Amino acid sequence: MIPLLLLACSPHTAPVQEPHETGVPEDTGEPRENTLRSPAEAEDLDPAEGLVRVALSAGSLRREIWDPTTGRIRVVEGYAFNGQVPGPTIRLQKGDILTVDIENELDQPTTVHWHGLSVPYEMDGVTWTNEGIPAGGSFQAVFTADEVGTFWYHPHHDSDRQVDLGLYGVVIVEDPAEPAADRELVIVLDADAEDPDSESTWEDTQTGVGSDPDLTHGAHGDAGSWLLNGLLAPTVELEVGERVRLRLLNASNSAYAWLDTTGMPVLARDQGLLAEEWLPERLLLAPGDRAELLWLPGPGGEAFQAWPYDRRGGDTQGPVQDLAVVALRGDGRAASMSFPHVFEAPTPDPGHTDVLWTFQGEEHTDTWMINGEQYPDVTIPVLAYGQEAIIEVRNLSATEHPFHLHGMSFEVLSEGGVAPQARLIEDTVNVPIHSAVRLRVLATNRGDWMAHCHILPHAHRGMMTVLRVE
Ligand code: C2O
Ligand code: CU
Repeated sequence: MIPLLLLACSPHTAPVQEPHETGVPEDTGEPRENTLRSPAEAEDLDPAEGLVRVALSAGSLRREIWDPTTGRIRVVEGYAFNGQVPGPTIRLQKGDILTVDIENELDQPTTVHWHGLSVPYEMDGVTWTNEGIPAGGSFQAVFTADEVGTFWYHPHHDSDRQVDLGLYGVVIVEDPAEPAADRELVIVLDADAEDPDSESTWEDTQTGVGSDPDLTHGAHGDAGSWLLNGLLAPTVELEVGERVRLRLLNASNSAYAWLDTTGMPVLARDQGLLAEEWLPERLLLAPGDRAELLWLPGPGGEAFQAWPYDRRGGDTQGPVQDLAVVALRGDGRAASMSFPHVFEAPTPDPGHTDVLWTFQGEEHTDTWMINGEQYPDVTIPVLAYGQEAIIEVRNLSATEHPFHLHGMSFEVLSEGGVAPQARLIEDTVNVPIHSAVRLRVLATNRGDWMAHCHILPHAHRGMMTVLRVE
């Protein structure tokens, strides 16, 4: 056994863990099981109709990532909810009341934030007015699932590090009026080798020799390699003719997923079904973003792929990555399926601006600001309860940033001056370089709502502010 040195050397993170040794797992020479499946779901501990109760426990987890092309494994000394990465998927019906008993088994504080769900402020899992859940402590979150769609949960304390180490999971809120696909597949994308400080390293299963993670990957939103539900280039077994509803989340700290969606209609983005089906050839999922696609497996679709992407300019050099390799069974014909998209005209932009937030910053100094301010030293705009507010988010920096607002979803009025064809409701929207998005918010949730860039190192370095509804 050759000992490996795992280094925790992030300059700005919480307790620095002592370097320690881990053994090289035994190499049996056998290929490992690498089949893509949806993350295991949380068990509903409350038998009553309309009430869902789940238990989440944040703790440490040592996991291994197997690279099917080289046979090497990567050992990650990370974190997990309930010992799995992604954490358990929480499945709800619209209107359900969810109770979550959260245990913190980490040696540091944590929280759970419900990204995209309009929860009461005390349940939002932020540490703006409280300290979070102490090490060894617990918290009970209770809220009603009012929105339909694919959402997620993750810590909002030291999130740059805690999310990167594996603390995230999906929340699905179903609308009983939507048709059931033959199968649903939940895929959480995370970038490998994204954080040079992350406590992981590569080992060669043949020689047991460790090597440093590739530090050049991930610096500019290029994922290096994408992991799907914690697996590198897994195989997905599909039946020709079956209709698969894909629910995608980009849980990566900072990498943009530039997905090849040829022949895969986009059913939904962050907040439920779109007003009309959309057939882009590529779909950009920024950190924090979700989308739902209809996958109709058939000949020609041998892989699910992503294009290289650089958040300083979009398309970039590099190979197309096979995110998952498709093992197709049967030789039938792919059937189509229709979802009840309800067309609603977009709200016309009233032209005025109530809140203006400008993203500024520089890569080389790693300084990130909103309106020249850095969280928590921020000016707080105040909205009256029930007020309609127009928010403009401008990006003056030379890199893209995904804007996310807590507490309330928003309607996208325009992106780069262009209004969407139909009403578009989101909670996370990418703001390209030297561009702007205009958003309409109805202030129907009281509280101090975080508004930030979902590139978590940027949020950590100050690109976060607060919107108050009172
Ligand atoms: Cu997904 Cu403020 O977070
Ligand atoms: Cu950013």
